[in-house]
Amino acid sequence: MNLEDAIESLCTSYSPKELKKAFFDLSDRYRSKKAHETELHRIAYLATRLPATCAVLKRVFSEISLPPTIIDCGAGPGTSIWALLDQPISSLTLIEQDHEFVKLGKKMSPESPFVTTWKTQSFLDLKESADLILFSYSLNEIPEKYLEEVIKRAHTLTHNYLVIVEPGTPEGFERIRRIRTALLNLRMSLHAPCPHHNKCPMVGGDWCHFSTRLPRTSLHRFLKEGSLGYEDEKYSYLIASKEPYTPSGARILRHPLKRKGHTIATLCTEKGLIQKTFTGKERKKIKSGDNFVLAEFGQLFGNSPPV
Ligand SMILES: C[S@@+](CC[C@H](N)C(=O)[O-])C[C@H]1O[C@@H](n2cnc3c(N)ncnc32)[C@H](O)[C@@H]1O
Repeated sequence: MNLEDAIESLCTSYSPKELKKAFFDLSDRYRSKKAHETELHRIAYLATRLPATCAVLKRVFSEISLPPTIIDCGAGPGTSIWALLDQPISSLTLIEQDHEFVKLGKKMSPESPFVTTWKTQSFLDLKESADLILFSYSLNEIPEKYLEEVIKRAHTLTHNYLVIVEPGTPEGFERIRRIRTALLNLRMSLHAPCPHHNKCPMVGGDWCHFSTRLPRTSLHRFLKEGSLGYEDEKYSYLIASKEPYTPSGARILRHPLKRKGHTIATLCTEKGLIQKTFTGKERKKIKSGDNFVLAEFGQLFGNSPPV
């Protein structure tokens, strides 16, 4: 069974009208930072958010070779299981404090080629270790004052990687910026998206975020009252490791402007943000979120003024 079918089969106990009402109620609750309350809220979350967060996780994981063992903190209904199905990992531990999400997750999750273990507890009390510890859209749900403490604990417990994903909003990015500083203070190396360990050059109210496009099912279109056959999910993220790593290249930010015969892109580089006009064959390949290796594209800094 694929993710869309698993979601549709859970939705069959409710009418589309009930689900749509729950979706709008849920959006109001998110705005006032309240968690899910009823099963309908949780199912509305599944139907409207899980495909998007799953697509983001797949994209983020594609930045590294995943290690064998992973802990997912704030696992919700097990989004990471779906995102990791094709990955050669050996175990995934899902930490989720909401009993009802754990129940739903166990009910809908597919057979996986790796061992999955659910733990109904708070990740504030995390004691387990793994090669990679993940926080996907969950750090925005804890009180701000615990953020550095949680990162420090995760740093102690991971054998190597920390992966953090947040909504691609100014607020989500400010959290990512704080976490980036904390990780560098802990002497971790950054793998993505930052192509350097220098001060983050994002200033002036702008925020570093990326976007992933995914198809919408008819149920999804109905619930969100959208007419497009796809949606763009915006996210900010960080991948860091304890093993020393020197990031390189230049990360393409925002959507490059494709013009006749040339493409203008904003790049994050060790020299800060720069704007670069590409005229060669590469101009067609340039996509937001990609990382260039400088050698591949010649002299990047030649005539590009900083942004
Ligand atoms: C927005 S959902 C994200 C779910 C999933 N990670 C995803 O990306 O789709 C956030 C989840 O984090 C869980 N959560 C928040 N704080 C937590 C904590 N301290 N310990 C464990 N789970 C927590 C919530 O119950 C919720 O299921």
